[in-house]
Amino acid sequence: MTLTARAVVDLDVAGDTISPHLYGHFAEHLGRCIYGGFWVGEDSDIPNTAGIRQDVVDALKALNIPNLRWPGGCFADEYHWRDGIGPVQERPTMVNSHWGDVVEDNSFGTHEFMLLCEMLGAAPYVNGNVGSGTVQEMSEWVEYLTRADDSPMARLRRANGRDEPWRVPFWGIGNEAWGCGGNMRPEAYADEARRYSTFLRNHGDNTLYRIAAGAPDDDLSWTRALMQAVSCVDCQIKPESPIFQGVSFHYYTHAGAGINTESATEFTQEQFYGTLANAHDIERIISLHEAVMDSYDPERRVGLVCDEWGTWWNVEPGTNPGFLFQQNTVRDALVAGIHFDAFHRHAGRLTMANIAQTVNVLQAMILTDDEGGLILTPTYHVFEMNKNHQGATHVPAMVLDGPTVDVGDKKVPLVSMSASTSGGTALLSLTNGSIEDDLDLRIDLRGVSASVQRARVLSGQSPAAHNSSANPSAVAPVALAVGLVDGVLAVRLPAHAFATIELELG
Ligand code: AHR
Repeated sequence: MTLTARAVVDLDVAGDTISPHLYGHFAEHLGRCIYGGFWVGEDSDIPNTAGIRQDVVDALKALNIPNLRWPGGCFADEYHWRDGIGPVQERPTMVNSHWGDVVEDNSFGTHEFMLLCEMLGAAPYVNGNVGSGTVQEMSEWVEYLTRADDSPMARLRRANGRDEPWRVPFWGIGNEAWGCGGNMRPEAYADEARRYSTFLRNHGDNTLYRIAAGAPDDDLSWTRALMQAVSCVDCQIKPESPIFQGVSFHYYTHAGAGINTESATEFTQEQFYGTLANAHDIERIISLHEAVMDSYDPERRVGLVCDEWGTWWNVEPGTNPGFLFQQNTVRDALVAGIHFDAFHRHAGRLTMANIAQTVNVLQAMILTDDEGGLILTPTYHVFEMNKNHQGATHVPAMVLDGPTVDVGDKKVPLVSMSASTSGGTALLSLTNGSIEDDLDLRIDLRGVSASVQRARVLSGQSPAAHNSSANPSAVAPVALAVGLVDGVLAVRLPAHAFATIELELG
C-alpha cells in the first residue's frame, strides 16, 4: 500500500534560530566511549594523534559537532579532576562504580579532553561534580581551565604544559541530582545549584553558561524548583541575570517496556510503533517544561537543555551489561529524525541537546572495535544529513491529513517533518514512520520560489537494518528523486525512511 499526505512549508515565515548546540554530543567515561572509542593511547597501533583515535575524529568532523559534554553522566559526580592531570604514570586510579565497576586509570583527563574538542572543532561542555565533590574543587577546575594570569590554578596548568587558558563556554552543575548525582530533592538541589553557581566564575573574557541538572522526563517538580531558584527579587540575583543560565532534563526512548530491557535489533511491529510513540513524546515533555519556564521567565533568559537523549536498548549479547553497548538500526535513525523535528519547533526555549552518546554507548554515531574497525551508524547519517539546520532559521512546516497509527490510546503520526532556511537555501527533513508502506507526499512550498539542489533518503531492507563490519553501508544515504512543479514538491519515500531535501531559494 502507498500512504498519501500533503504538507505546507512557509519559507518566508521566519521563526526562531535553531541553536547549533541542539546538535550537541556526549562522551562519558562509560564502557568503550572514551577508552577504546575516542582514546587508544599514543602507543596504540591504531592511528592516533597524541592518543586520540584519528579515524573517529575524522568521521565526526563531517557532523560539525557544536559541543561535547564530558566526563558524565553519572560518572561526573564521582570524578575528581585533579586525578586526571599531570604525568600519566603518576595519576591515581579509581573505581568507576556506575559503569561496569571497572578501574579507571585517569589517562584521559582534562588536557586530553580539551585536545579532543580542539580536534573536533567542538565547544567543551564540562560537567562538574556536585554529588561527591566540593564547591572549591569545582571552582578551581574553572580557574585551571580558563584563567590567564598568574593565579594558583593557572600556574598549575602551565606546569602541566598548557600556557594559554582554554575557552569553556558550557558548565554542568552536577548530573541527575535526583538519582546517581546524590539522591537529592528538588529544592535542596536548587539551593546547591545557586551555591555552586556563585563560585563558578567568569575569568577574563570566558563567560560560562551554567547548566543546573534538572528533571527526569516530565518531572516538573525539578523545573519548577529550579525556576524558583534561578533569580530572586529579595537577594542579589537579579532576574535579568539569572545565577545559572540553563536548566536541563533527560529523556531516553524505549519501545514501551522501559530502558535497558529490549533488543536493539529484534523487535515486533508493536515495539517499532511503541518506539516511535515514545520518540514523539519528547515534544509533549519539552512543551511541559517550557510552560513552567514561561510562567517564571517569559523573556526566555533561561534556556532549556536536553543534555541526554536517545534510545536505550539492552546491551549486545555477550557484552558487559555495564558498558551499554548497543546496535543502531533504521529505527534509531527515525527516533533521531523525530527528535530533531521537535527540537527545531522549540528552538525559542531549547538551547542545547546532547545525544547519548557519541561512540560505542547507547545511541552512538560510531561503533568501533579494538582492531581498528569503525562503523558509521544510521544515526550518524541523520546527524550528517541534518547538519545544515544548525544555526538556521526555523520555518513552519505542517503535515496536513497525515496518516497515523494507534498505539494504546494514542494516535501517533506516521509522517514527521521540519524545515529551516539559511542564506538563500532551505533544508527540509522528512520521516516516514510506516513500517511497511511507502509514502507519497505533496509539499506546497509557499512564499519564495525554490529549486532542488539535492535530495537524499536513508532507509534499509527492514526497520531493523543496521551496519556491521560485514556490511558497513547497509544503511547509508542515497539520492532521492523528487519533482518540483509550480512550487509543489512531489516526494515518494520508502517505508521506514528518513530524508532531507536541500533547496536553493529565489
Ligand atoms: O548516558 C548514560 C547515563 O544515563 C548517564 O550517565 C546518566 O546521566 C543517565 O542516567
